[in-house]
Amino acid sequence: MKVLVTGATGYIGSHTCVELLNNNYEVIGLDNFSNSKKEVLDKITEITGKSIKFYEGDMIDRSILEKIFSENEIDAVIDFAAYKAVGESVKKPVEYYINNVSTVLVLLDTMKKYNCKNLVFSSSATVYGDPKIVPITEECETGGTTNPYGTSKLFVEQILKDLYKSDNEWNIVILRYFNPIGAHASGLIGEEPNGIPANLMPYISKVASGKLECLSVFGNDYDTPDGTGVRDYIHVVDLAIGHIKAIEKINKDNGLFIYNLGTGIGYSVLDIVNAFEKANEIKINYKIAPRREGDIAASYSDPSKALNELGFKTTKTLEDMCKDSWNYEKKNN
Ligand code: NAD
Ligand code: UFG
Repeated sequence: MKVLVTGATGYIGSHTCVELLNNNYEVIGLDNFSNSKKEVLDKITEITGKSIKFYEGDMIDRSILEKIFSENEIDAVIDFAAYKAVGESVKKPVEYYINNVSTVLVLLDTMKKYNCKNLVFSSSATVYGDPKIVPITEECETGGTTNPYGTSKLFVEQILKDLYKSDNEWNIVILRYFNPIGAHASGLIGEEPNGIPANLMPYISKVASGKLECLSVFGNDYDTPDGTGVRDYIHVVDLAIGHIKAIEKINKDNGLFIYNLGTGIGYSVLDIVNAFEKANEIKINYKIAPRREGDIAASYSDPSKALNELGFKTTKTLEDMCKDSWNYEKKNN
C-alpha cells in the first residue's frame, strides 16, 4: 500500500515514516523543509534500512501534488504539513491560515482528481478549547480556540466533515493529538524547535544541557493537585503507531472517524520536572512564574474510543519519554 506523508521530515511525520516502513508500507514523502532538515531522510533510512520516495515542495503548490499523484498510485494520505507555533500564529494569522487551511484544500482537490479518498489528518486537543470536563472524550464540545493555530485545526475539521457529507466515499480519520514528547530510542530523530522552545519538554531538555538557565513554571495556582498545569503527554513513537492503526481502520471501515490520541494520564509541570530529574539524574533549575496567557489548567484524554475502535494503546511510560527526550538532546545539540 502506498501512503503519501506530507510533512514527512517533521517531528511526528519522521517517526510515522519509520513505523510505516517497519510495517512494510511504501512511503512517499513531501516536505518543504520550512521546519525540518533534509538529513532526516538519511536518519529514517539508518533506522529502518529502507527509504522513502521523497519530493521537496510546498503543499500550496498544486503542481508538486500533481507530480506526486501522477507518478505514484497513492492509496492514502497522512497530512502532517502545517505550522504549529501557537504564539507565532497570533502574530501571523494569514500565513497560518494559508499554510494550515489553504494547503489542505489544494490537497483535497488533488486527491479528488486522482480518486484517492483516504485521509488521516493531524488535528489537536487544542480544538476542545478550555474543556468543561476532563478526561476529554471525542463527544466533548469543540470551539473556543484562542489562537489562529487552534482555529485552523477547527476549520479543517469542519471542511473534512462537509466533504464527507458531500461524498460518503471518503474515508477520513481525524486524530486529535494531546502533547507529543520524546524521540526515537536511537536518538537519530526527534523534535527540533526553532529558537527558544515554547513547549515544556524541549525547554527542559535545553535547561538540562545548560543552553538555557532556568525553566519558568507558568503558574502554580491552577485548580490542579499541585497548582501547575496538567497535560496528557504521549510518546511520539506511540503517537506514530496510532497513525498505522488509523490507516488500518481506513482499510477496514468506511466513514469519518475522530479519535483522541493520548495516554489518558494527566501529569503536572512539576511531575514532568521531577520525572526528568529522576530518569536522567540531572537537576533542572526552575522557578515559579506568572501564568502564560491562553493556558488552561488541565487537559487529558479519555483514550477509550481509540482503544475500542482502533486497538490503540500506548506502551511507553513517562520515564521513557524523559529518557528519550534527553538522549536526543545529548546526541544532537
Ligand atoms: P513539525 O513542524 O515538526 O512538522 C511539520 C512538517 O511539515 C515540517 O517538516 C515542515 O517543514 C513541513 N511543512 C510545513 N508546511 C508545509 C508546506 N506548506 N508544504 C510542505 N511541507 C510543509 O510539526 P509536528 O510536531 O511534526 O506536527 C505535525 C502535525 O501535527 C501538524 O499538523 C501539527 O499541527 C500537528 N500537531 C502537532 C502537535 C505537537 O505538539 N507537535 C500537537 C497537535 C497537533
Ligand atoms: N509550561 C511551563 N513552562 C514552559 C513551557 C510550558 O510551565 O516553559 C507549561 C504550560 O504552562 C503547560 C504545560 O507546561 O501547563 C505544557 O505546555 P506546552 O507549551 O508544552 O503545551 P500546551 O499544552 O500548551 O500546547 C501543546 C501544543 C499545542 C497543542 C496543544 C494541545 O503546543 O500546539 O498542546 O495538543 F495545540
